[in-house]
Amino acid sequence: MKHYEADVLIIGGGIAGLMAAEYLSSHKNVIVITKFSAEQSNSFLAQGGISAAIDKEDSWAEHFLDTLKAGHHHNDQEAVKQLVKEGESVVRTLTEWGVNFDRHENGSYMLGKEGGHNRNRIVHAGGDQTGKKVIDALIRRVRNNVKIVSHQYAVDLIIQDHKCMGVYCKDNENQTTIYQAKNTILAGGGYAGIYETTSNAFGSDGSVLCMAYRAGVELSDLEFVQFHPTLLSGRVPAGLITEAVRGQGGILVNSSGVPFMRDVHPLKDLAPRDIVSKRLFQEIHVHGEKVFLDISSIIDFKSKFPGVTKICETAGIEVNNGLIPVSPGAHFTMGGIVTDQTGKTSLRGLYAIGECANTGVHGANRLASNSLLEGAVFAKAAANSILSSETTDMKPPTFKRRKTLEQKSIQHGDLLHENEIQLLMDKYAGIVRSKSELMSAAKTLDLRSWTPALIKEPLPVIKRVNMQTIAWLTVTSCLKREESRGSHYRKDFPSQKKEWDSKKIIRSLWHDES
Ligand code: SIN
Repeated sequence: MKHYEADVLIIGGGIAGLMAAEYLSSHKNVIVITKFSAEQSNSFLAQGGISAAIDKEDSWAEHFLDTLKAGHHHNDQEAVKQLVKEGESVVRTLTEWGVNFDRHENGSYMLGKEGGHNRNRIVHAGGDQTGKKVIDALIRRVRNNVKIVSHQYAVDLIIQDHKCMGVYCKDNENQTTIYQAKNTILAGGGYAGIYETTSNAFGSDGSVLCMAYRAGVELSDLEFVQFHPTLLSGRVPAGLITEAVRGQGGILVNSSGVPFMRDVHPLKDLAPRDIVSKRLFQEIHVHGEKVFLDISSIIDFKSKFPGVTKICETAGIEVNNGLIPVSPGAHFTMGGIVTDQTGKTSLRGLYAIGECANTGVHGANRLASNSLLEGAVFAKAAANSILSSETTDMKPPTFKRRKTLEQKSIQHGDLLHENEIQLLMDKYAGIVRSKSELMSAAKTLDLRSWTPALIKEPLPVIKRVNMQTIAWLTVTSCLKREESRGSHYRKDFPSQKKEWDSKKIIRSLWHDES
């Protein structure tokens, strides 16, 4: 069995993982492991950009209010302040690290507009290729100082004396490798890939959340799954049509050309995502309409949106015709591993940052382009926390596992196939939810038989266990929240309830009863 040691082990090669690696690399020995190649992440696919109150008319206080409004006040206000106050410094740092954000001739940053923002505040690169430009620059920056090991699937945490000491990984050849570290940072992304209709990179199966859950670490807010209104309709995988297209004047219309967002919200087509997606759901599933993004008013569409143009052309859609067929799909998961504002989890030596974490910044619905910002801000906070804490001596792990509630081996017959899970989630835990449908999904997904040694299973089985675990946790969290708020809409509890404002549904193996 191969065995590596590092001061800090980072799981995930998106913006959060790579920025944390860069902040730490001059003081610590850092290893980054990624599931696929370093370029296959949701950060890499991000089109819109990074929201930052840079305009001289803008302020962090306005960005703060827009974030809370979009999040339906389920946010942690201190975490939101930390997020929005750092926007400008994140853009400055990334610029110094080699990202060429799009600028006007006078050198000022071009600022786009997206849903839920009352101002133009989205910094972007390469038109709609911000994620690619950021990740390319970060890889260039870290590759000489940080060991990046790709095609490693993190399976379980190594726990010793109630402290995380690293992870067990598997590769495609079923070889196990032990990565031992004084501190482990989970930056492995969210779980929107458990839906079939998703904008996410392949493999966004919530595996790092499952790994944390199995170790008794707390998760929360799993019911809040954001559905992006404009994925290219009828395609699997569905390409994302960035909200920045609506920021440039794109309008949502039905088959008769009716612009149906006009009377729904003061921000019309640029209302927060949960509101636009719910309206699209109604148009498509209640009125039986098709929905299009009318882009005919956007001048130079192809040069402003080269990425979207390519996605459309690959699907045989000519953007010059002015209409792109769209429908909503799972895009981002607000729920995650509970952390403080430095990324610390409930387990010593374990941090979580980026989409896999739940700091409370996004509340019940993330504001557009706050996700790359989140990755950057909490990467720095976690790195600072690690750099400032006393180093602990690393004892060799004994590889003993914490006792689980139930230690039964998994019966492979209990497991669903990945696509069965995805179809079930689309059908029963999508934009509109209800008790009966969620109960039926929960019954099918129930997998409360925990293997004491998941690492011994073949990788395809481990992946199915993870997907089914996080799907079950999501569906049962949806059942527990008996109200509607942000991205979580229950047709049997259609209104938001005051008493649920700050109530969190915490999931932990140690006290999960249903
Ligand atoms: C988009 O470009 O529409 C997505 C950006 C985001 O997820 O905030």
